[in-house]
Amino acid sequence: MKRIVILISGRGSNMEALLNAEMPARVAAVISNDPAAKGLATARSRGVASAVVEHRAFGDRAAFDAALADEIDRYQPDLVVLAGFMRILTETFVNRYRGRMLNIHPSLLPAFPGLETHRRALEAGARIHGCTVHFVTAALDHGPIVIQAAVPVLPDDTEASLAARVLRQEHRIYPQAVRWFCEGRLKLGPDDRVRLTEARTPDGALVSPPLDT
Ligand code: GRF
Repeated sequence: MKRIVILISGRGSNMEALLNAEMPARVAAVISNDPAAKGLATARSRGVASAVVEHRAFGDRAAFDAALADEIDRYQPDLVVLAGFMRILTETFVNRYRGRMLNIHPSLLPAFPGLETHRRALEAGARIHGCTVHFVTAALDHGPIVIQAAVPVLPDDTEASLAARVLRQEHRIYPQAVRWFCEGRLKLGPDDRVRLTEARTPDGALVSPPLDT
């Protein structure tokens, strides 16, 4: 049974999707940089160990990241899962967990890295938007892509309606990626390429708006 540590900063709905998913893994702890993160209460109510490493208590990023790594390593995780964790991580931290740290980002990377992805997708007139799970590397919101889900952008979409449509897919693809990792099917190669064994290869194309025929 693999051990997972989940890092959150807020609501924690992706964390909850992971707690609800069946996978050969145990969530050893949920750690937040913000004591007010709503997800902490959810974790506690599910009987999962939780901890806070408050970034404001540290003079610089390196000191915070070192304390965070110490806390994570107490739980000896096989995988570190960033689930709405809103801190930029130092290269030292990222390299320490190379090949065993995943992130979810609410856009179809490499489009729209950074914040306010749904607003930016609407402003750009994108017809298709979505979400991406990737291994974490030092470049913010980049890194080898594991799985993506695409959704249509509809004419009357608001930021909120689009965000909700994307979030439903986040809750599907993140547990899938973590399950692959825990089953030993997902690895990051030395060339920084994702190796996924026995992946199904259906056509799977999404075209939006739909074709006439
Ligand atoms: C999600 O949209 C995730 O993709 C992004 O931050 C949001 C976190 O939501 N990184 P939640 O805390 O998992 O509900």
